[in-house]
Formats: sequence, structure tokens, C-alpha cells
Amino acid sequence: MSPPDYFEVFYAINPWMKGDTPVDPGLAAVQWESLKNAMVERAGAQISLVPPVQGLPDLVFTANAAFVYQDRAILARFKNDERRPEEPHFKARLEDLGYTVLEPPVPFEGAGDALIYDNRLVLAGYRQRTEVSAHQLISSTFDLPVLSLELHTEHFYHVDTCLCPLEGGHLLYYPGAFDEYGLKVIEANVPEEKRLTVTAQEARNFACNAVQVGKSVFLNQPSARLVEALKRRGFEAIGLDLSEFLKAGGSAKCLTLRLY
Ligand code: ARG
Repeated sequence: MSPPDYFEVFYAINPWMKGDTPVDPGLAAVQWESLKNAMVERAGAQISLVPPVQGLPDLVFTANAAFVYQDRAILARFKNDERRPEEPHFKARLEDLGYTVLEPPVPFEGAGDALIYDNRLVLAGYRQRTEVSAHQLISSTFDLPVLSLELHTEHFYHVDTCLCPLEGGHLLYYPGAFDEYGLKVIEANVPEEKRLTVTAQEARNFACNAVQVGKSVFLNQPSARLVEALKRRGFEAIGLDLSEFLKAGGSAKCLTLRLY
């Protein structure tokens, strides 16, 4: 994670950033701490930090830093120039942590666009940010099959805004973010009883941008329906208020990068 000391919204690279209520920095700091503390206290997570950097407001969204698996990391190559200066900071920190860092030749936004499902395959998004050809680099580097899912709406511009693999082969997702072919790919690879879809309203509240640690699922203000649906599958939903980060188009999952 990376503390939100310099978090604000002063450019707009996704539709959520076009709102007119400015970020409240004090509230953002409290909300970020509440996510970090909840993961540590409720689920025993261990957290490593990336130092914040003035002028890089989106560095808080460490999900985008890289796709990390085993001892290697494929670093982000951001599509938008506004975020490209984050790359050397993420690279240095990953190297400090002992990862071998690979740099992709095309736009690729890390674990924002590539998620490991059921320890056996990668569900990866493309079109809004990541180039589909980056997916090949994941499969050739890690020997993991990659299923490419086209993201066809501007609001759900990273795959982690509309899809979340959970332990045990469960999959939380918002069907409205995918095209017909993407939905077929999901249905062909995830058994029906493991699929948990969210409504448009839940999706706009970043229900799919959840962090799972053990049986706990941390997310922004879940609906009662979703809390219950997760419970039936053996998960405890832990709702947080991450309103300030939603103003930049991110929530719980975007604020974290899982390290293996
Ligand atoms: N403002 C950031 C961007 O548009 C938010 C990134 C959210 N991260 C994520 N993994 N979905 O790039």
C-alpha cells in the first residue's frame, strides 16, 4: 500500500475523476488507515509500504504497480502520461522487496488488469488501459493461461473494477462491464454455483473492487444483499467507507497489491 499523503484529483483519466466535489485530504487519510487497520486486525495481513511522492496523486493505487507472481513482477507501463512517472517508484520498491522486475513494451496496468483466479488462470482485461498483447507476456513469463476479457465501458476501465476472484474458485463480477464474448469466457471457466454477480448499482459502488484475505472480504459499503450472498459462500464482508478514493475511480482493491 502507499499512504495518501499526496492523494488528490487534479487530472481526469477516467469518468469518476470528472466529479466536482474535491477530495477531503483528512478524510482520505482516515479512510485509508481504516482499510489498512481492518486488514491487519481482522485478517492478520502484513503490509509493506511504498513511500508517497508529491505530484503523483494516483500512486496510492498500488494495484496498478505490477502483476506479481512467485518471485517476479511485470511492472506497469501506464497508458496515460500522468501516471508514467509512478513506474520507477514502483520498480525500485519491488526490487527492494526482492522481485525480479520485467518491463512490458506496451501499455499494461498491473494487477488492476490481471487477476489470478483459483490458482490456475489469469483473468485479464484490455482495451481501456492495457493492450491485449501484454497478456501474452503474462502467459509466457509465468506459464499461466490467460483469458482476455474486453472491457467495453469507460466506468469499468480496469478489470478489478468489475471482477474479483475469491478463494475457493468463487468469482464476484458485474456482467454489464463485459461484452457477450467475455461473459461466455467467464461462464465457460467458472462453474455456475461459484459465480456471484452484482447489480449495476452495487458495481457503481465498487462492490467488485474488493480485497479478500482469508475469509474476510474488505470493500466499500456493500449492500445487505451482497453481505448475505458472500456469507452464504463462507465469506465475511467487511464494509468500509472509501468515498474519497471513489472520486478518483478506485476503492479497496485498487489501494492494495497482493504480494506472493
Ligand atoms: N485514478 C486512477 C486511474 O485512473 C485510479 C486507478 C484505480 N486502480 C485500479 N486498480 N482500478 O488510473
